[in-house]
Amino acid sequence: MTPIEILTALGMSEGRADPYPLYAALHEIGPVIEVGPGDIIVVGYDAINSVLRDPGFRVSDESNFERDLPSWRANPVFVQVADWILNLNAPRHSRIRSLIARAFTARRVAGLEPAIAKMAGELLDAMADRGADGSAVEFMHDFAYLLPVTVICELIGIPEADREGFRPIARDLVGIFELRDLEALPKINAAAVELLAYFTGLAASRRANPRDDLLSDLLAISDRDDGTLTDAELLHNLTLLLVAGFETTTNLLGNGLQIILQDPPAGQAVRDGSVPVSAFVEEVLRFDSPVQLTSRVGYDTTLGGVAIRPGTGLATLLGAGNRDPRRFTDPARFDPMRPDGGPLSFGGGAHFCIGAALARLEAAVAFPRLLSRFPKISAAGQPTRRDTLLLRGFDQLPVTLI
Ligand code: HEM
Repeated sequence: MTPIEILTALGMSEGRADPYPLYAALHEIGPVIEVGPGDIIVVGYDAINSVLRDPGFRVSDESNFERDLPSWRANPVFVQVADWILNLNAPRHSRIRSLIARAFTARRVAGLEPAIAKMAGELLDAMADRGADGSAVEFMHDFAYLLPVTVICELIGIPEADREGFRPIARDLVGIFELRDLEALPKINAAAVELLAYFTGLAASRRANPRDDLLSDLLAISDRDDGTLTDAELLHNLTLLLVAGFETTTNLLGNGLQIILQDPPAGQAVRDGSVPVSAFVEEVLRFDSPVQLTSRVGYDTTLGGVAIRPGTGLATLLGAGNRDPRRFTDPARFDPMRPDGGPLSFGGGAHFCIGAALARLEAAVAFPRLLSRFPKISAAGQPTRRDTLLLRGFDQLPVTLI
C-alpha cells in the first residue's frame, strides 16, 4: 500500500476500528513519511520523541486559527481553546503552564487517592446491584465514564450537587477534539459558554471562601502573582483540565478492560498481584493508547532524512510509535512485564500531559478493585468502538459480573 492509501484507510471507519495493521504498514515505509507537499506523518518512536521534545516544532496556535477559520473569534469555544496551554507556544505556554503546575502538584494528586478509591467503590456497588441477576452491565456508561469526570470535579473543587448536570456539558465540549464539520459547533459553543459561566461563578465563590481544592490554589497563585495569570486564562484552562482529563482516562479504563476480557489470564495476573498494576497500566497505554495522535507545525530542519519546511504540518502518530518494531520487541504482543516499556501515550517535552500521574493513579486504583470485586467479569456481546481516531476507546463495553 502507498502512504496515501494507508492514510485513506485510516480515515475510514474500518481503519479507525483497528489501525494497528495500517501502522505496521507505515513502519515498513519508514519513521517519517511525506504524504504530500507540506504534509508529514511521523510514526517512528524516536522520531516522534524528537519532534515533541524539540521547541522548534510548534503547536498550532491562534495564528493558525486565524488562517484556517478567520471567524474563529465569533465562536466562544475557540476563544477558550486559544488560551489552552495545549495550543500555546513559548513564552506564553511556559508562563501559564508553570502557574498551573504549581497548583496541580504531585501532592495534590496523591491526596486524591482515598477519594478515588471511595468513588470507585461506590460505582462498583452500583454495578453489582445492576448485574446481580446475571444481566449485562454497561461498563463504559456505568464506570469508565463516571469515574474520571467525578475525579476531575473533586480535583477542581466542584461541589457534589453540581456534578451530575455537569457531565453531559463536559462531554459536548470534548467534541472539539474530533471536530469534523462545523455543524457540530453550535452544541460545542453552547457547552463552552455554559461551563465558563459556571466556572466564573465558582471562582468568585472560592475567592471569597477558599477551600482545599485546585481552583482555590490557582486563584491564590494568580492573585499573589498580581495578574500574571488573567482570570480568562485561568478559567479557560479549567475547561481544558476538564475535557483533557476525562474521555482520555475513560478510554484508558475501557481499553484496559477489553484487553482483560479477551485475555483473562492478564486480568488474573493483576488480581493475584503477579503483575504489578502499574506495569499493567503502562502496557495498556502502549498497546492501545487512548490518545492516538497529536500534531505540530514544522520549521526549517531535517527529520529522519526528510526535509521539513516552515509551516509543514506534522502528525505524530503516538499509537503507531507505541507499536514501533524498532523500539519494542514483538510490538503486537500484550506483555506488561516487557523490559522495553515507555509508551508515548502522554506525549513528551514541554506539552507532556500534566495529568499523567492522575490518570495512572485512577487506573491503578480502579483495576485491582474491579477485578477482585468481580472475578468472573466477562464480555456480554459485541463492544462498540467510538468511531474516532484521535481519541481511541469504546462507546459500549457490555459485561456480566457473575
Ligand atoms: C490516560 C489518560 C490521558 C492521556 C492518554 C493523555 C494524553 C495527553 C497527551 C498525548 C498530551 C500532549 C498533547 C501534545 O503534546 O500535543 C496531553 C496533554 C495534556 N493533558 Fe493529558 N492525557 C490523559 C489524562 C489527562 C488528565 C487526567 C488531565 C487533567 C486532569 C490531563 C490534562 C492535560 C493537559 C492540561 C494537557 C496540556 C499540557 C500542555 O500543553 O502543556 N490529561 N495529554
